[in-house]
Amino acid sequence: MHNFWTSLRKPVFALAPLSGITDSAFRRICKGCGADVVYSELASSTAFAYQAQSTLEIVRFEDSERPYVVQLFGNNPEHFAIAARFVTTEIRPDGIDINFGCPMAKVFKRGAGAALMTNPPLAREVILSVIENTHLPVSIKTRTNVQGFDLLSFLDYVGDLDIKAVMIHGRTYAQRFSGPNDIETTREARARFKGIVLANGGAASSATAVELIEKTGADGVGIARGALGNPWIFRQLQETWNGGSIAKPERADVLRTALEHARLSIDLKGRRGIIEMRKHLCWYLQQIPGAKKLKQAAVKIESLDDVAALLGRAAEQEKQVGSSK
Ligand SMILES: Cc1cc2nc3c(=O)[nH]c(=O)nc-3n(C[C@H](O)[C@H](O)[C@H](O)COP(=O)(O)O)c2cc1C
Repeated sequence: MHNFWTSLRKPVFALAPLSGITDSAFRRICKGCGADVVYSELASSTAFAYQAQSTLEIVRFEDSERPYVVQLFGNNPEHFAIAARFVTTEIRPDGIDINFGCPMAKVFKRGAGAALMTNPPLAREVILSVIENTHLPVSIKTRTNVQGFDLLSFLDYVGDLDIKAVMIHGRTYAQRFSGPNDIETTREARARFKGIVLANGGAASSATAVELIEKTGADGVGIARGALGNPWIFRQLQETWNGGSIAKPERADVLRTALEHARLSIDLKGRRGIIEMRKHLCWYLQQIPGAKKLKQAAVKIESLDDVAALLGRAAEQEKQVGSSK
């Protein structure tokens, strides 16, 4: 087995999984901006048992994304076994991750995602099932506590299994996606767990991400929402970590990247790519003067030409603001 986790430079700057967002187009953009490893959106292990086309599309990738990790969710060890075999032989990523953190009702109610942390014997079976059906390194993504089931006991319970990495969203299930990050639990997990530990949660800028690494002692950080409209956060992380000053992207770079992102998204998904790109454009445009009107236009784009025209307008506005200063 090639365990890519051990050959990564530390600290590791990872693009954390975001359902509906970290598709191949966005992963390529983040990789180009310096992400060390990128995760797929969560993909249903059960869907692999039926070879559902939509799920196969979710995990599709290109070599430039490597190292690339496919994240699976579910609660049936047999489905995880099928999924692990299929992903290993047909998709061929660099690693497989198991979701133990998703709090969304449609996942949680089925006993998957964060709910798996409340059933340690089943969680253990799921992890074993994946490990036994792949030669790829297996990692997990967790929360700090789910309905009284805490991460440290969970890690003790599965600690003898060959888990190569854990990304810890430093919040409880009850906190969902906001509130303070439980630094202490991640710090303690780093001390107890033998593999790579990535801290996650609330790192909205390179400065807060570096602080999270330093306070938790983790081997790296997972960035999720901090990369929206700002894939340069990965390059900035490296600069901040090295003690240098952070180079903000030139506005022209922002617009060029947004256009490239749109081209990739539309190439990959056609009309769906256009619809999905609308939200990304709003995130990119946040940095541009007069963003409000531009965003109103962004949610109506219908083609790559529309995107180019919109970004052209943004560049014009930018110039006017610049010359009136
Ligand atoms: C819209 C959205 C979708 C998410 N999708 C996933 C997912 O597919 N798999 C997963 O493990 N976590 C998912 N997460 C959780 C993130 O990976 C991350 O743990 C969380 O957002 C905290 O990190 P951040 O503060 O850097 O955003 C999602 C979060 C959001 C907001």
